[in-house]
Amino acid sequence: MSENKLKAVIFDLDGVIVFTDKFHYQAWKKMADEIGVYFDEEINNRLRGVGRMESLDIILERYEGEPLSEEYKKILAAKKNDMYRELLYGMGPDDVTAEVRETLAELRNRGYKLSIGSSSKNAKLILRQVRLMDAFDAISDGTNISKSKPDPEVFIKAAEYLDVPCDNCLVVEDASAGIDAAKAGHMYAAGIGDAMNYSLTDYPLTSFKDLLDICK
Ligand code: BG6
Ligand code: MG
Repeated sequence: MSENKLKAVIFDLDGVIVFTDKFHYQAWKKMADEIGVYFDEEINNRLRGVGRMESLDIILERYEGEPLSEEYKKILAAKKNDMYRELLYGMGPDDVTAEVRETLAELRNRGYKLSIGSSSKNAKLILRQVRLMDAFDAISDGTNISKSKPDPEVFIKAAEYLDVPCDNCLVVEDASAGIDAAKAGHMYAAGIGDAMNYSLTDYPLTSFKDLLDICK
């Protein structure tokens, strides 16, 4: 594969640009405790990159009562989201490293178009909190998709918003579901964190700034 095909970089948000896992965990844990379902960090790891209602279904695998109605599930997810947003309001510019800010600025400087590609419906709130709205040319998130990762929809929408063909896009992801989504969308995939050693990852990143070696 030739790196000079790359014209755009699409970033997952949670686990790549910011680290919100702990907030998701706290909020889901409170909800799970309220309905008496066992929940731990290992189960929380399975929720990475997965949409809100799909995450709830994973948590409810341990639920032993009568099946819950869709309406009640929506109430539970909304409660979790209220708690999660309270925690997000505590975030600020310091929650993004200088390495991330400088790498994003340099990629733009080199002529790459940049987008967010996140399953989260809270992506814009997070970007506003950490003052990164202006670092991206487009935002594709949970509010503009009907299928969450591993479906490629969120990344295909990002490529459309940027007006760049899918096979000229590099996706940066921390979750295997996100790497699967990138590959299903015929994009290149860079993996950071847990996704670094995933079999479908094209470019393992030991550090965010390694992107500057890929996107010359
Ligand atoms: C992803 C997270 O970015 O967004 C998942 O990795 C989360 O853990 C998903 O479930 C949906 O987030 P939200 O903010 O719309 O509930
Ligand atoms: Mg992620």
